[in-house]
Amino acid sequence: MRVYSGIQPTGRKHLGNYLGAIRHFVTGQEDASAAGDDAIFCVVDLHATTVAYDPAELRDRTYDTIALLLAAGIDPERSILYRQGDVPEVPELTWLLTAVTAHGDLNRMHQFKEKSGQQRELVSAGLFLYPVLMAADVLAFRADRVPVGDDQRQHVELMRDIALRFNARFGGAAPDGTGGTEILTVPEGIYPTSGARIMDLQAPEKKMSTSSSTPEGALYLLDEPKAMEKKFKRAVTDSENPPVLRRGPEKAGVSNLIDILAAASDRTPDEVEASLVDARGYGDLKAATADAVITLLAPVQERYAALREDEAAIEAALAIGAEKARAIARPVVADVREAMGVGPRA
Ligand code: TRP
Repeated sequence: MRVYSGIQPTGRKHLGNYLGAIRHFVTGQEDASAAGDDAIFCVVDLHATTVAYDPAELRDRTYDTIALLLAAGIDPERSILYRQGDVPEVPELTWLLTAVTAHGDLNRMHQFKEKSGQQRELVSAGLFLYPVLMAADVLAFRADRVPVGDDQRQHVELMRDIALRFNARFGGAAPDGTGGTEILTVPEGIYPTSGARIMDLQAPEKKMSTSSSTPEGALYLLDEPKAMEKKFKRAVTDSENPPVLRRGPEKAGVSNLIDILAAASDRTPDEVEASLVDARGYGDLKAATADAVITLLAPVQERYAALREDEAAIEAALAIGAEKARAIARPVVADVREAMGVGPRA
């Protein structure tokens, strides 16, 4: 069994990224190594070139993201951690997969429609092909499981279609995947269970996000503890009098704080509510949440500071990752080329 996750090097990572994705990467690594499976993590610098960007900043943000994954507990000895651009088999496979990707399907991608509308200078062909590159990421490793956010469902469905169509066209399989040769593994998306969403502290009806949240609404992983405390203190709650420290409809702010406190202290929201029966008001909930989050992130912040300083050490870890990744991807791409009649006879 092989589990594959990709993460964008763009933007400062926030609490939603940590509780919703990065933390699960680490448990995924633990589960995989206990079961003798592979866990593969990729920082997708090539995807970041599909919209306007600054080259020097891309390199820095990629280091930031790698350092953060290492700080969070990804262990390059046990997992494969690599930078997408270090594995040329992936862009090669992207091109090969375009042969079985429908233009019409790419045109229907919500993310393409949304992001292309936001571009001022250029809607790049790369932005259109983004989902094929993402399919190549996963298919190059014959990964079985792909944990992603809900917003990536359409991309995962497309990569499944691409694998099925490839196996049908070049492996003689039936369209439903039966029979023939399974040249590419059809991966399964793993989606967060409901309630795992961290909402904006200032606008708790929408998701915490790097792009749409205000600086006060998003809690960044590298925020100083003082700044975190302030953001929680100012978090939007509601005006029930007396205050009701329970989740509920019309209580998006309080529900979010309870969910965050539960996730940060490894308890269920019900347990957190029970622990709050003697609390005097929303101030107590905010203080407890700030405390739990600061305690959770302190060791990550400390390790990050040490790791991020040493780019040579990051590159050394990435060199190991690239080598392990290419050792897996190389024979897969060779099989694809062979099946497609590209290059010399094997
Ligand atoms: N598109 C994904 C996102 O924005 C990132 C990603 C790129 C990815 N390649 C991947 C996720 C492969 C899972 C598997 O979140």
